[in-house]
Amino acid sequence: MEKLLQKALDMRQHAHVPHSNFRVGAALLAEDGTIFGGCNIESDSYGLTICAERTAIFSAFAQGHRRFKALVVVTSSQGSPCGACRQIIAELCGNIPVYTADLQGNQSLFYAYDLLPHRFTLNQSANPATNKVYETSI
Ligand code: THU
Repeated sequence: MEKLLQKALDMRQHAHVPHSNFRVGAALLAEDGTIFGGCNIESDSYGLTICAERTAIFSAFAQGHRRFKALVVVTSSQGSPCGACRQIIAELCGNIPVYTADLQGNQSLFYAYDLLPHRFTLNQSANPATNKVYETSI
């Protein structure tokens, strides 16, 4: 955990944030022990900005990793992942623990499926337990 937290803190320094000045660092632990870092990278075309969490996850995927053990996200305010990142975390990493931390060392732990219940999937039937659809009448 200490190594992961330190990596996320280090990654925060690489954030490219000319618009928000809000630095985010992430560190993703792969099953084999490799740690992948990510930071947020902003674009002048604001919507093209990518979050730290997705940078870390896409970087790990691009290098062939598919199984993960934990994700740490560090911001000045102990912010938690945005909706888009929650989809990607749950979809690509499964129900991993997600630690949010601030610069003072405060930490909270969430599980990916709790952060995004009923996430989108193209294959709903593959995930009956985590994507249960309840019958309703309106
Ligand atoms: N940001 C992240 O890196 N991760 C999140 O989960 C939420 C937001 C970034 C995007 C943008 O560069 C800045 O924080 C302010 O929204």
